[in-house]
Amino acid sequence: MSTLVVVGSQWGDEGKGKITDYMAQKADVVVRSQGGNNAGHTIMIDGEKFALRSIPSGIFNPKIKNVMANGMVIDPKQMLEELAGLEARGITNYQLFVSNRAHVVLPYHRELDGAYEAFKGDKKIGTTKKGIGPCYADKINRIGIRIADLIQPEIFKEALHQTLTLKNMELQMLGLEPLQFDPIYDEYVEYGKKIKPFVCDTSLLLEEEIEKGSKVLFEGAQGVMLCVDHGTYPYVTSSSPTGVSVPVNTGIAPRYIDNILGICKAYNTRVGEGPFPTEINGDVATYIRERGHEYGTVTKRPRRVGWLDCVALNYARRISGINYLSLMLFDVLTGLEKIKICYAYELDGKLINTIPATLAEYERCKPVYLEMDGWMEDITNVTSFDELPENAKAYIKKIEELTKTEIVIFSIGPDRKQTIQLKDFFK
Ligand code: IMP
Repeated sequence: MSTLVVVGSQWGDEGKGKITDYMAQKADVVVRSQGGNNAGHTIMIDGEKFALRSIPSGIFNPKIKNVMANGMVIDPKQMLEELAGLEARGITNYQLFVSNRAHVVLPYHRELDGAYEAFKGDKKIGTTKKGIGPCYADKINRIGIRIADLIQPEIFKEALHQTLTLKNMELQMLGLEPLQFDPIYDEYVEYGKKIKPFVCDTSLLLEEEIEKGSKVLFEGAQGVMLCVDHGTYPYVTSSSPTGVSVPVNTGIAPRYIDNILGICKAYNTRVGEGPFPTEINGDVATYIRERGHEYGTVTKRPRRVGWLDCVALNYARRISGINYLSLMLFDVLTGLEKIKICYAYELDGKLINTIPATLAEYERCKPVYLEMDGWMEDITNVTSFDELPENAKAYIKKIEELTKTEIVIFSIGPDRKQTIQLKDFFK
């Protein structure tokens, strides 16, 4: 048995796509377990840039089985467009399996996402407006429509009738026009036909694969701090992007999880609203944003930038079961004279080492920093830890010390080749 979960250990956008793609070279199966097309995984292959949204990162390798598991919310229109886009760029030979239990994002989810944001005004979450929250809300409210329903026209018709009646009431309550049944039904039934060949019980498939010794990679979306249970609620996504949620989101036993690799940037970023204690503005923030191309893959919004927050990272490690770390965009920090790391917060005059539950308290947290000397040497071509400048080595060692977790990968540029791996997960 050989499984690895890759999770974002900050607020998303840590570079999970790159590591998943890198790990996928040796994996037999790659699984997306939660979220939907709110995610945007950028992958560089031989200098070519691919931005994946809901399709797993193993799609480029014809030998890899790619699974979209039950914990996902799938927008069929977007998913088919994404596949068509890949096919147009020559990715035609792939294996894709879609869970019959995953939930379907429908047009009213997208409408409601926008309407709730507008209703919240300056308290808006800053969602991606892809309908993710409203779709998960329907799942929990037991009025969701699943992939298994979508691919059976009669069942879909009945389910859509019932749900649309309710959703139209909700839309009207929020001042929007009700949606017509026929156009949605006609459009989505066609999507159902196209998706049907990919649909199966992915839980069964995964157990079979794990039992026969396949190397399985679970690809996280978003980040632990966006977890609906443990993140900075309500400024979170609507699923649990943690390592420990993988069994529920994929239908496998917890004992099948071998390792949970936390992906973190060498600094912090955040898109959307919500507290961000180590956020910085000014020249250093601009330097990091430009060097790290810190603009949203999905929304193109400039990302908020800050120093590395080891309180949040430690919290993510604990909540998510992370046992190794991968440090991303390390080269972005090159050229800074001084680099800060947050190792505690000060809350109302007391030092704390964890994330408070309420936003009001979290907003009052002030970061406590230690300052380290930076390095000026270009590190984008190093091939080992030993080749790093001393100050860069010291930065890695300090993060390991503060998080009590070994950094087993560091990334020094966008290309696959610029990934230094110190531990092999898939032998
Ligand atoms: P939603 O997932 O679209 O509902 O958005 C909720 C929050 O999660 C917003 O702050 C989004 O910016 C954030 N978010 C959702 N997906 C991602 C992601 O893949 N990377 C970073 N932030 C994300």
